[in-house]
Amino acid sequence: MEFDINSNISFIQERINDLEKITEKENPYTRLVFSKEFYDGRSWLRDQYTSLDLSISTDEVGNLIGLLKTNKKNKQLVIIGSHIDTVPSGGRYDGIAGVVSALCVINHIKKNDIDLPFNLAVYDYLGEELNDWGTSCIGSRGLAGVLNKEILSRKNTAGLVLKEEIDKIGGNSKLLNKPLPVIENILACLELHIEQGKVLEDRKIEIGVVRSIPSISRFSVTVKGQAGHSGTILMNQRSDALVTASEIISFVNKSALKLSQKSNQHFVATIGKINVHPNSAAIIPGFVEMTIDLRTSSQNSKDEFLNILNEKISLLNDTSSCNVKIKDLAFAPYIEMDKDLIHLLKKSANSLGLSNIIMDSGAGHDTAQLSRVVPAGMIFIPCKDGLSHCPEEYAKVSDISKGTAVLWEMVQNLARKKIEVDI
Ligand code: GLV
Ligand code: MN
Ligand code: MN
Repeated sequence: MEFDINSNISFIQERINDLEKITEKENPYTRLVFSKEFYDGRSWLRDQYTSLDLSISTDEVGNLIGLLKTNKKNKQLVIIGSHIDTVPSGGRYDGIAGVVSALCVINHIKKNDIDLPFNLAVYDYLGEELNDWGTSCIGSRGLAGVLNKEILSRKNTAGLVLKEEIDKIGGNSKLLNKPLPVIENILACLELHIEQGKVLEDRKIEIGVVRSIPSISRFSVTVKGQAGHSGTILMNQRSDALVTASEIISFVNKSALKLSQKSNQHFVATIGKINVHPNSAAIIPGFVEMTIDLRTSSQNSKDEFLNILNEKISLLNDTSSCNVKIKDLAFAPYIEMDKDLIHLLKKSANSLGLSNIIMDSGAGHDTAQLSRVVPAGMIFIPCKDGLSHCPEEYAKVSDISKGTAVLWEMVQNLARKKIEVDI
């Protein structure tokens, strides 16, 4: 049954509007995983699932699932969805566009009374964004069986233990030591997402079919100096942790710039989070902790970067009177998406007459974790000025609707393929 791009715009718009209201009021748009706003967002999503007559469940890792069961005797499953959590002061579309488009596909199926040859589930993957426990993609990592004990036992700054939060939201963290059993039944995971970059917008292309997602490595760097009176300790007597930290910040930036120019591969590194203790104007900073976020498609460049960073840290330890330590926080591998799904996504966009390209993602996604264990594919749609992870993030609802048309076409293509195999 044909999906009409224009007539689905209001369905999508209303839901984007609903979710944008569920935010920390003084800090739009903020719906951090496990926060009150996140629980409110989930309760909104449960209502959506209920009104679409889906069976609702929460899996072992806390993904919220709305399941549309096939009438056929078949346990196979196609997953569509994304995430409703946000970064602090984030946007209204990152993740949300994918969840709303999945709801829109289900609505279309229900309205037209379509029976698919497999189960179709909407997933809100738990906590895709980087959180206070130093990890991201909680739900998809849990599905893939790569949430290890160390990560699950971490405490955040408020002293909350990650696995206890997973259990509170309806998961069962004891069962997270291997891939979840459901993956045996998964035919494909599909995610629509805003591009979060400018490629589609600049080239005026409607659909991006994602080929690869860069690896993401995060490191915690701590610098221990000595706090003291800012008026009495003379300049040559200080162990100022922030001054040493600032050397690391510029070193990371400059080295990443050089490596990105040298390797001609995607290579970016950011220090976007820094805590200074005790953070007071009249006290020399005694301790700094910060996070390096490193993304690349090239293992060689990453190795080279870590070598020179470690040399720099040794040098600072020898010369600065501060003590610098670096520690791994999280890792997601570079992945290439399933080739058959890339082909089928392109075919789906072509058959709808939508301009499309195959492209690489700059951002990380749940799909990267899922690709470790099941076939996974992604659809990108343009977003304004490439802005994301900020309140200015914006995507046209008509573009989301076009992406949704591709998502639905893709589900149908998978259904046709499945029927061919079964005959
Ligand atoms: C996910 O939003 C990321 O940080 O790439
Ligand atoms: Mn996202
Ligand atoms: Mn994001």
